[in-house]
Amino acid sequence: MQKIVILTGAGISAESGLGTFRDEGGLWAQHRIEDVATPEGFARDPALVHGFYNARRVQAAKARPNAAHAALARLQRDWPGEVIIVTQNVDGLHEAGGAEDVIHMHGVLAGALCAACGHRWPAPEEMAVGEPCPACNGPTARPDVVWFGEMPYRMDEIYDHLAGAAIFAAIGTSGQVYPAAAFVHEAIAAGARTVELNLDPSDTVSSFDETRFGPATQTVPAWVTELLGQSE
Ligand code: APR
Repeated sequence: MQKIVILTGAGISAESGLGTFRDEGGLWAQHRIEDVATPEGFARDPALVHGFYNARRVQAAKARPNAAHAALARLQRDWPGEVIIVTQNVDGLHEAGGAEDVIHMHGVLAGALCAACGHRWPAPEEMAVGEPCPACNGPTARPDVVWFGEMPYRMDEIYDHLAGAAIFAAIGTSGQVYPAAAFVHEAIAAGARTVELNLDPSDTVSSFDETRFGPATQTVPAWVTELLGQSE
């Protein structure tokens, strides 16, 4: 049965109260990427970076999954073929909405990573500068989030899934950040049918066969119902 690969971005969590990055008043209008989302920024001022992620971690822990998250979990459950969700989001709302085996290519807010030994463990709500690694005891804990200039996680797996996709959907992403913004081209090369579901046209809108504009809580459940209707 046809394999579906879905890429999601910050837009899918916007209606759960989590700000996006590049919309008006978004995170990158309030914070400098160089200061809070680069290894150099962390080396320069770890307290500032921990403060940024601690605040997001607290907010994400309070947020609830919305109808778009729930619809994708339903698709995963009821679609007769494989449904792979790859997210750029570091919140846990896909899983809270019932989705499984979500690939977090940019990491997770709920995780801590040792910059020295690579050990991973659940992050405390408030991470402190010099937080010790439980494995090597080094004062080298950092948020388990992929920063600009770093390689996203699980890329080989993601490219394997894209190579087998019959349907590729991008939901709630501006198409401005690579390598995620190029996934549509990988999917097209695999012969997939491609659809963009977004509030507004993304920077890669012209690459998609089909587009559906509007809030994700409206477009995604409708798209899922149609797909499942077709699969019966
Ligand atoms: N429903 C659907 N789409 C929405 C909604 C909504 N309610 N609200 C906003 N959007 C769309 C916007 O139109 C925009 O195209 O979501 C997109 C959000 O874009 P960005 O803020 O750029 O977020 P994203 O694409 O996920 O960013 C990619 O960049 O900053 C880094 O690592 C960070 O993972 C992130 C990556």
